[in-house]
Amino acid sequence: MTTTSNRIAAGVERRAPFTFTVDGQPVQAYAGETIAGAMLAAGQRLTRRTAWRTEPRGAFCLMGVCHDCRMVVDGVPNVRTCLAPARPGMVVDTQLGFGPAPEVGP
Ligand code: FES
Repeated sequence: MTTTSNRIAAGVERRAPFTFTVDGQPVQAYAGETIAGAMLAAGQRLTRRTAWRTEPRGAFCLMGVCHDCRMVVDGVPNVRTCLAPARPGMVVDTQLGFGPAPEVGP
């Protein structure tokens, strides 16, 4: 389990913690936190890699503008994790480029 050492400890009341996974590793979160917020608190900064050079990116603006926090959330690519609330049991993966192609019908 990832620690929560980057969170403000004093003067903050939080409800029971829950976990979700990022690239298969558990990350602790509390109700009301975004995915990116919980990841930053856990010390995990990588959200995606660029399409051409696979350079690492992480949350930058934290207000939905830059799109550097896009990740694959429960199989859905391009989710801005700075806006998406963390939920128990969700599966979050680092996104490569524009993410996996959507499935098309027959
Ligand atoms: S960190 Fe900029 S859009 Fe999420």
